[in-house]
Amino acid sequence: MACRNLIRRHFAEQLIRPHGLVGRWIIGPLWNRRNRVLNDKTLQALRLREHEQVLEIGFGGGRLLAQMAKIVTHGHLSGLDASPIMVNRVRRKFQALVYKGIMDIRLGSAEKLPFTDSAFDKVASVNAIFYWRDPARGIREACRVLRPAGLFVLTFTAKEDLDRQEFGIPSFYEDEVISMLRKAGFYRIDVSRDRDAHRAFLILTAEK
Ligand SMILES: C[S@@+](CC[C@H](N)C(=O)[O-])C[C@H]1O[C@@H](n2cnc3c(N)ncnc32)[C@H](O)[C@@H]1O
Repeated sequence: MACRNLIRRHFAEQLIRPHGLVGRWIIGPLWNRRNRVLNDKTLQALRLREHEQVLEIGFGGGRLLAQMAKIVTHGHLSGLDASPIMVNRVRRKFQALVYKGIMDIRLGSAEKLPFTDSAFDKVASVNAIFYWRDPARGIREACRVLRPAGLFVLTFTAKEDLDRQEFGIPSFYEDEVISMLRKAGFYRIDVSRDRDAHRAFLILTAEK
């Protein structure tokens, strides 16, 4: 029992801040596999066009960035993540695109985005909001960096399923997040609920 709790605690710490060899080699690929459906549905909801400027906040293993790069061939992709391990890994993975100036990968925090106002047509974030120290501020930042009428797609595991995993990660009711989106200045907020083999999840789309 004590051993199980220890493993669970180590895993929860890895999820919050990936570190060491486990963080470097296991967590990124694991997220890419486990969150595949959430990322694919987010990609659909983004309705990307080839010339757009797009930001992903909390890209983890980089699956969504890889999918977006197939569509956004004449625009620009930015990825921002708070984990140095993920940033280094993904920068290496996409070095050809980074070198060509099509993609930039930055270390930073959702709550203080290092981008100018109205810089993006679309912003996405998948299963990352739970880890932001101040989710309302992160949402306000997403709104600030979007151009007027730009689209924000926010996807996350449903509260009941995240709570069941017992990792102690904060979870959100749909209404709480909708309220944060409204207060930040988003409108035309739409929620769709879906599920994969692992959990139920929500996809919120909102316009600035
Ligand atoms: C559960 S992973 C999800 C990764 C990926 N979006 C996916 O769906 O597989 C959450 C990611 O958010 C990042 N993250 C945590 N806190 C963050 C913050 N304050 N700002 C930006 N990224 C953050 C983590 O480093 C991690 O890469």
